[in-house]
Amino acid sequence: MTQHMSGPANLNGQVAVITGGAGAMGRAISNAFRQAGATVIATDIAESASIGEGVEYRQYDVTSREQTDTLLDAVIAEHGRVDILVLCAGIIARSSLEDSTDEEWDSIMAVNVRGVVNPTRKLFPIMCKQGFGKILAAGSIAAKNGGVASGPAYVAAKSAVHGMVRWMAKAGAPHGVYANTLAPGPVETAMWASITKEGAPAANATVPLGRYGNAEDIAQAALFLCSPASNWITGTSLDISGGMWMD
Ligand SMILES: NC(=O)c1ccc[n+]([C@@H]2O[C@H](COP(=O)([O-])OP(=O)(O)OC[C@H]3O[C@@H](n4cnc5c(N)ncnc54)[C@H](O)[C@@H]3O)[C@@H](O)[C@H]2O)c1
Repeated sequence: MTQHMSGPANLNGQVAVITGGAGAMGRAISNAFRQAGATVIATDIAESASIGEGVEYRQYDVTSREQTDTLLDAVIAEHGRVDILVLCAGIIARSSLEDSTDEEWDSIMAVNVRGVVNPTRKLFPIMCKQGFGKILAAGSIAAKNGGVASGPAYVAAKSAVHGMVRWMAKAGAPHGVYANTLAPGPVETAMWASITKEGAPAANATVPLGRYGNAEDIAQAALFLCSPASNWITGTSLDISGGMWMD
């Protein structure tokens, strides 16, 4: 059994791949990991993006198994290994159950669930073989409270992510591979803006800590869960919601 002891939250010498890296959370996580000493490869669906100083960017559609192989084979060939995988690619849908279409269900599942399956199916066995890996997926408070402003497809997809991460945590633990989920409440990003066009409810009425989250709140929690600071934590789902959800 491979064991890793806890230590300071630095990522010196580690190689991290981030999906959805051009989004608000992915970008903040990429930069925080870079500052903590990691080599960071941020990926997203756009052909090009400027993520931050010292962060590499590559185009990658998480729904494609072929692109998954191409990306991860290339990263491993160039950098030797992948220590950290953060799964931030995601889309939201708000339709009610009765209004939701097959297309909406398919696209939500393709990006939010298959987009976790594809890169982990490739990397999880490699990480197990190398005796170390940290996998962190963006879940959501929606998987716990039935959704803040999202529809059933998103809630179902994020619930699947939380479940799959628990499976990986259990299967990976004897091999030194960690898997955790972030369960953010509303975070002020493009995604949140897209669902609150008519105006968000006042944060001090809905969030115990009195404000919505920002990308840096998420990045610092991600750094904790992907660094040696959390080497006795796996299979957890970290509520990061200003107190909106507590368990
Ligand atoms: N913003 C919130 O309030 C909130 C709350 C809980 C969970 N989340 C989750 O956190 C994650 C990041 O969200 P965000 O707020 O930064 O959103 P965002 O929209 O800023 O970023 C999501 C990124 O995913 C990328 N993406 C979409 N489809 C893709 C695909 N097929 N392949 C690769 N990349 C793709 C987008 O291009 C975008 O850059 C998402 O999984 C989201 O569901 C967000």
